[in-house]
Amino acid sequence: MNETAKQIDKLIRNVPDFPKPGIQFKDITPVLQDAKTFALVIKTLADGLRNERLTAVAGIESRGFIFASALATELGVGLVLLRKPGKLPWKTLRATYQLEYGTDAIEIHEDAVKEGDRVAVIDDLLATGGTATAAACLLRDAGAEVVKAMFVIELDFLQGREKLRTAGFPAIESLLHY
Ligand code: PRP
Ligand code: MG
Repeated sequence: MNETAKQIDKLIRNVPDFPKPGIQFKDITPVLQDAKTFALVIKTLADGLRNERLTAVAGIESRGFIFASALATELGVGLVLLRKPGKLPWKTLRATYQLEYGTDAIEIHEDAVKEGDRVAVIDDLLATGGTATAAACLLRDAGAEVVKAMFVIELDFLQGREKLRTAGFPAIESLLHY
């Protein structure tokens, strides 16, 4: 772990058995409460994207919004919202994806991106990759090029990276790996 990762890691709280028995929940709220570390997270995410000539960053509801919105202002680009179903007021595109039991879905406004846009997908956490892959596919279907996906935390053992790669999104970077 490099020094940046160590500083962020110190403020990630591991909560056993939340929201269900057996899950080790990675709580990012202590990072957000610490101004220096929150700023360090945003700067480090931005450093991974400065050379990508982005036209927008796309944040995944809800914890992804926290990082994506600060990142958009840091990079001087717009913010695109990927939302849970039924939340967006205008015409939407929807992608459905598999959960352990059942399915979930994510939506985007059909005019949120256009052909030629260069977008990064941002979320707090990459677990199985279902959410991020659905988000990236939606952006691609809407005409954007998804140039990179970035996460604060990646749970390596769940192999979400493989799901993104298989769907055609090989550029993936996470600040912390567990
Ligand atoms: C969590 C996390 C990611 C997603 C990762 O969100 O913030 O968005 O799960 O899981 P996956 O890689 O297995 O798809 P959650 O659905 O818990 O909602 P929240 O962000 O609104 O808290
Ligand atoms: Mg989430």
